[in-house]
Amino acid sequence: METLLLQADEKSVQYAGELLKKGEIVAIPTETVYGIAADCTNESAVAKIFTAKGRPQDNPLIVHIASLDMLRGIVSAFPPQAEKLAAAFWPGPLTMILPRGEKPCAATCAGLDSVGVRFPSHPAAQAVIRAAGVPLSAPSANLSGKPSPTNARDVFADMQGRLPLVLDGGDCKAGVESTVVSLLGDAPVILRPGYVTKEQMQQVLGGEVLVSEAITHAVKAGEKVLSPGMKYKHYAPDAELTLVKGDFASFAEYVGGMPEKNTWSLCFDGEEKALPVPAIAYGKEGDGASQAHEIFSLLRELDRRGAKKVYVRCPDESGISLAVYNRLLRAAAFRVVDLRDKKGNGGD
Ligand code: TXA
Ligand code: MG
Repeated sequence: METLLLQADEKSVQYAGELLKKGEIVAIPTETVYGIAADCTNESAVAKIFTAKGRPQDNPLIVHIASLDMLRGIVSAFPPQAEKLAAAFWPGPLTMILPRGEKPCAATCAGLDSVGVRFPSHPAAQAVIRAAGVPLSAPSANLSGKPSPTNARDVFADMQGRLPLVLDGGDCKAGVESTVVSLLGDAPVILRPGYVTKEQMQQVLGGEVLVSEAITHAVKAGEKVLSPGMKYKHYAPDAELTLVKGDFASFAEYVGGMPEKNTWSLCFDGEEKALPVPAIAYGKEGDGASQAHEIFSLLRELDRRGAKKVYVRCPDESGISLAVYNRLLRAAAFRVVDLRDKKGNGGD
């Protein structure tokens, strides 16, 4: 199959709408990461997404809407907590897990009786949904297991020959996927951290928001998970990643002792030159938004540069940095070195 790569303008958006109405799949920009979209009601169209990505069938997709009216038939309930979160964060990078309506096809929900819904803020994403005339199921536009793409070039690298059209809407503003919050129980539970933080949601809801354990811990074989996506290895570049906790001086000493050729590091802005191995900065220390913006594209860049082992300065576990930490942990298959323990000055 030939894959067209077109700037997202009025004409290409209309073309995307036509393809989607015919049951095709299209890669589209959103404010978080690029997605592969299909008509959420069309079983065979949604099946094409799973094939294009090589995605396990038991991992459900998020349904994307372009107006609150589009929720009709997608969800069967929209509780007061959802109303409040929607008013505060939609359109934007927040996905809510709610009781499923009759419209999403079985493949979209992977057979669950719940559905994830999101109202993206990217104008091109909204325009494509309107052109298709139906809510769109859309996972991130990477091959399953690879880092999510945050620009059209990275989408094209993974999806060339696998779908007919990639719309280029520029670099994604957020750079990590949406926050996924389950509203199925009494207290909201964050299943995947993202750009919208726990603290922001608590402020809007005036009550506690829980964070799933699986965000910072490996899921054990056979363990029941709230979100199927938690089970899978994720976001991994070809290089072997290790997260390193501790201060800059101990990090520099640690990577300096690595004998392998093609050892790289991911560090914070301004630290590159003081490291004994080649280094790329992925954002400012303590600034989750700047880290999120760079992290996925840099994981791909490291592969292009031939990195074999990559040591990463560990981000914080709060605010937007928690999302970056969560993605890096999975990219590193939970390999973490804690230099703070070694020095005997604590560490959690
Ligand atoms: O920012 C985003 O959310 C991007 C853009 C394209 O919108 N999409 C995205 O989709 O990241 P995906 O498929 O890569 O990740 C969706 C996550 C998966 O971990 C999946 O398991 C979880 O959401 N999920 C979807 N529906 C769910 C449900 N009903 N219950 C629990 N988890 C669900
Ligand atoms: Mg994904």
